[in-house]
Amino acid sequence: MTKKVRKAVFPAAGLGTRFLPATKAQPKEMLPLVDKPIIQYGVEEAMMSGCNQIIIITGRGKQAIEDHFDVSYELEKMLEERKKTDLLNIVRSISDMMYVSYVRQKEALGLGHAVLMARELVNDEPFAVLLADDVIDAQVPCLKQMVQVFEETQCSVIATQIVEGKMISSYGVLDVKPVQSHFGDRLYEIQNMVEKPKPEEAPSNLAIIGRYILTPAIFDCLARTQTGAGGELQLTDGMRSLLQKEKMYAYVYEGRRHDTGDKLGFLKATVEFALKRDDLGGPFREYLKGLKL
Ligand code: UTP
Repeated sequence: MTKKVRKAVFPAAGLGTRFLPATKAQPKEMLPLVDKPIIQYGVEEAMMSGCNQIIIITGRGKQAIEDHFDVSYELEKMLEERKKTDLLNIVRSISDMMYVSYVRQKEALGLGHAVLMARELVNDEPFAVLLADDVIDAQVPCLKQMVQVFEETQCSVIATQIVEGKMISSYGVLDVKPVQSHFGDRLYEIQNMVEKPKPEEAPSNLAIIGRYILTPAIFDCLARTQTGAGGELQLTDGMRSLLQKEKMYAYVYEGRRHDTGDKLGFLKATVEFALKRDDLGGPFREYLKGLKL
């Protein structure tokens, strides 16, 4: 019987140091791109890709994420009384969106450790992992593209993007071989992966980005993985051991990724998303044209 991806895990327990001081008392996942928190873009992508169970890994200071996806009685009552129906619908639609559960990662011991925290809730089924920082603007949601690959291969699928030049050293990098399939030159079988290699040692220009579909075998692999530098458990190390047991695929997704965990990436995403808005795009474009750059 073919398996389906129904659960999506959002590791959101990181400290967000690149965005200090904004992230001192506020999760970076709640920073708004125009008027919607970053994490909501990811949650909507997961739902449009067929995942109706959302698991968010939280930590200290992340209460605002839980409040955001919860019912807000006082706000709803006030909007109802003032007959602000449009706003009321927006607010309600967020809490009505899906079934969401939270697991607390008590210490930020790495992305691999955060994923391992979801073990009991995910149980014995394939699942998606989305890093909310990576906001992907795509005609077909990035995760949905990956789900199509999973449904055909029934193997783990990692989203990848071509990164040219020295910037490749900031990513996990894949060693791959091409696969003949109707996905054309977008699909590869993974041979190996290296975390942040020197540019001259990178096995390819295919970088790992923040979207994964993993089989539940990853949990045993992570549980057996030794912690690396800084006492952190790396997801890449766990996936390398998964590769010894099972085939894994890399998929070059179609779309445009914004790294909103980085200040410049966040600014670029804000401008691009605002320009696309029906209500704001026109006046915002006029404003930008008027700037002396
Ligand atoms: P990042 O590498 O972006 O780290 O984590 P960070 O702490 O969020 O941000 P910076 O680099 O200090 O600015 C990648 C993803 O893994 C999650 C983060 O929340 C982010 O979604 N993560 C990381 C955890 O959930 N737990 C951890 O222990 C580490």
